[in-house]
Amino acid sequence: MKAEVLKKFEELHGDAQGVNVYFAPGRVNLIGEHTDYNGGHVFPCALTIGTYVAARKRTDRKLTFYSMNFERLGIVEGSLDDLTPSKEADWTNYPKGVMWAFAGRDMKMDCGLDIVLYGNIPNGSGLSSSASLEVVTGYLLKDLYGFDVTNVDLAKIGQYSENNFNGMNCGIMDQFASAMGKKDNAIFLDTADLSYEYAPLVLQGAKIVVTNSNVKHSLVNSAYNERRSECEKALEELQTVVDIKGLGDLTEEQFETHKGAIQSEVRVRRAKHAVYENQRTIRAVDALKKNNLELFGELMNASHVSLRDDYEVSCEEIDVLVEEAWKVDGVIGSRITGGGFGGCTVSIVRDEAIAAFQAKVGAAYEERVGKKADFYVVEIGDGPSRL
Ligand code: GLA
Repeated sequence: MKAEVLKKFEELHGDAQGVNVYFAPGRVNLIGEHTDYNGGHVFPCALTIGTYVAARKRTDRKLTFYSMNFERLGIVEGSLDDLTPSKEADWTNYPKGVMWAFAGRDMKMDCGLDIVLYGNIPNGSGLSSSASLEVVTGYLLKDLYGFDVTNVDLAKIGQYSENNFNGMNCGIMDQFASAMGKKDNAIFLDTADLSYEYAPLVLQGAKIVVTNSNVKHSLVNSAYNERRSECEKALEELQTVVDIKGLGDLTEEQFETHKGAIQSEVRVRRAKHAVYENQRTIRAVDALKKNNLELFGELMNASHVSLRDDYEVSCEEIDVLVEEAWKVDGVIGSRITGGGFGGCTVSIVRDEAIAAFQAKVGAAYEERVGKKADFYVVEIGDGPSRL
């Protein structure tokens, strides 16, 4: 990949002297979905796929962006003097948003940049291609301009730019997983205070399989933002009867005691998901530490049911993938992963069952949905780096 982006850089800019190549990973979340903006726990891991960027400083204040994934757009130009979002800027709104967020923290770039990018995360798959782009941008700014930021800062800056420049009210999970990834480890993150712990993911005799539904329903961002506001409203209602900072502060029992304060049936279900999912995540990590993979899988399955019925962020295609996965012998657990409304499922599958899993789930998906699913047996990789 490094050679490919360098070659493209040379092709577009005449030479590739002094060009650096950077990488930041995508992520898959094992459990803890839609808890990260509710002060709950998440348990994602960084992947070995992600975004590669070849970058070199310019002598003027111009910015040029080129994506090998969107070649039809050609070189998209920008300027350090105009860091504002626009429709025409397309995908470059992500790196520009990060530059804007750095500038807002008094880390101003003193010259422009040429960027050539290639990402090997399938687009719209819910494996955080945008977070990896934000993190790789932050990482290269730090490296090229000498900005003093930690990887946790890169996660915060990435989320801030996505919220405030790109209008997606996401939590911090994706950026945190990309910025703080560690090979063969998942990250047990408490989003209430950003304390975290690495958990070695030794799935003796099993692997993580990501299945791409190859569907992405429209209005994902608006539906996501709507869920977030519903949770915020439910929190406000609960705060009239109990002293909490986030839904993640409640146990299931406390929630059942106080849920009467929530004035709408829909919001009760949204909040219930957030509370129960957080507790499931804590339990799942504990189960993993005790080598109880069966329990981990059961909690993944319960997570799916809750996301489907109470949180309503699944969709028909994803439900088919999960239901079919549950039928296959050797599947320890399977659920939707990421923001929802399409994208991917994550399953833990015993080694000897992986071939049958792909064949059976793939065939049933084609038959029931009329589409092809893609399967990736994933590896857990490290955070960002200069290659
Ligand atoms: C998206 C968001 C994350 C998180 C997940 C759901 O990936 O970017 O912050 O909320 O959805 O768990």
